[in-house]
Amino acid sequence: MAKQAPGVRIDGLTVVYKTPAGELPAVRDVTLTLEPGTITGIVGESGSGKSTMALSLLNAVQPPGRIAAGSVEIDGLGDVVGLRGEELRKARGKHIGYVFQAAQNSLNPLKTVGKQLLDLGRSHGVDDLRGLVREAKELLGRMGLDGARVLDSHQHELSGGMRQRVGIMLALVLNAHLVVLDEPTTALDMITQANILKIVREVHAERGLTTLVITHDIGVVAEVADRLAVMYGGRLVEQGPTRHVLGAPRHPYTRGLIRAIPRLVGDIAEAQALPGRPPTLATVPKEGCVFRERCPLRMDVCDTVDPEAHADGARAVACHAVTVKEHA
Ligand SMILES: Nc1ncnc2c1ncn2[C@@H]1O[C@H](COP(=O)(O)OP(=O)(O)O)[C@@H](O)[C@H]1O
Ligand SMILES: [Mg+2]
Repeated sequence: MAKQAPGVRIDGLTVVYKTPAGELPAVRDVTLTLEPGTITGIVGESGSGKSTMALSLLNAVQPPGRIAAGSVEIDGLGDVVGLRGEELRKARGKHIGYVFQAAQNSLNPLKTVGKQLLDLGRSHGVDDLRGLVREAKELLGRMGLDGARVLDSHQHELSGGMRQRVGIMLALVLNAHLVVLDEPTTALDMITQANILKIVREVHAERGLTTLVITHDIGVVAEVADRLAVMYGGRLVEQGPTRHVLGAPRHPYTRGLIRAIPRLVGDIAEAQALPGRPPTLATVPKEGCVFRERCPLRMDVCDTVDPEAHADGARAVACHAVTVKEHA
């Protein structure tokens, strides 16, 4: 059966965590479409809700968290927010390949990587286990590892960077056509990072995948993503084609993120750290704009009205100051 790159429509997604102060949103009213066959990058500082959103794509948010509102429609699966039990288990792995942020530590310490690969294959009804092993070795080889040796290894025998590549292999090996990679390269040095992302891009193109890459480093996705979505305080503040977002960022947060990365600015002397810190669940403003505390363009309206995403062709920006300027 020929599988095709699925489209994904996230609509009005809100995910909350139960805290001593009640249920607080980590992702709030996020609407985002992943077009079939594209790579979308989600960027934002730590704590902005990226991993929580990634987990929602698999309906894998665990207590004390829960999806409080919205839907995640995936072609061929329907709204995953409604999937339960066995249906959900089958969807993960075979339809949706994923590397969770904790992938480095998610291998079973007692079993070799090869044994875990076979378990994964069996649990998804793969008949040709030899083929699966061949495929795994190939993927590991492409990422610069000795496949046979890695499959014979236990987790503790692998470096952080090697484990991360094993995680990517496991996300790709079942041939899922939707792939979610959450901080897939953070344990790697810059050059290895670039190489691995190049391979992700190649495999994406060869197989016709829909891919979501999540990172706190906008420089990491600059070269691989077709589209970028920028998150802050659980809100999606800007999205659009990568070259537009990087070339002409509109939201002051996106501008700040880009200014902080020397290799995007082009000159290390010009890079400027974004002042202040991102909010936590407890400190995210309950009304008004989530970014206003750090915003150079803050206006009175920002204190009381949460800006809606304003679409302009392929771009969308949620900022009062930017909208005012456009309409002036
Ligand atoms: N299990 C949890 N319980 C309570 N709060 C959580 C839990 N997981 C994440 N959070 C909070 O939700 C917010 C978003 O976290 P996360 O989705 O991990 O962001 P990111 O991946 O962008 O760093 C953070 O403020 C984080 O502290
Ligand atoms: Mg994360």
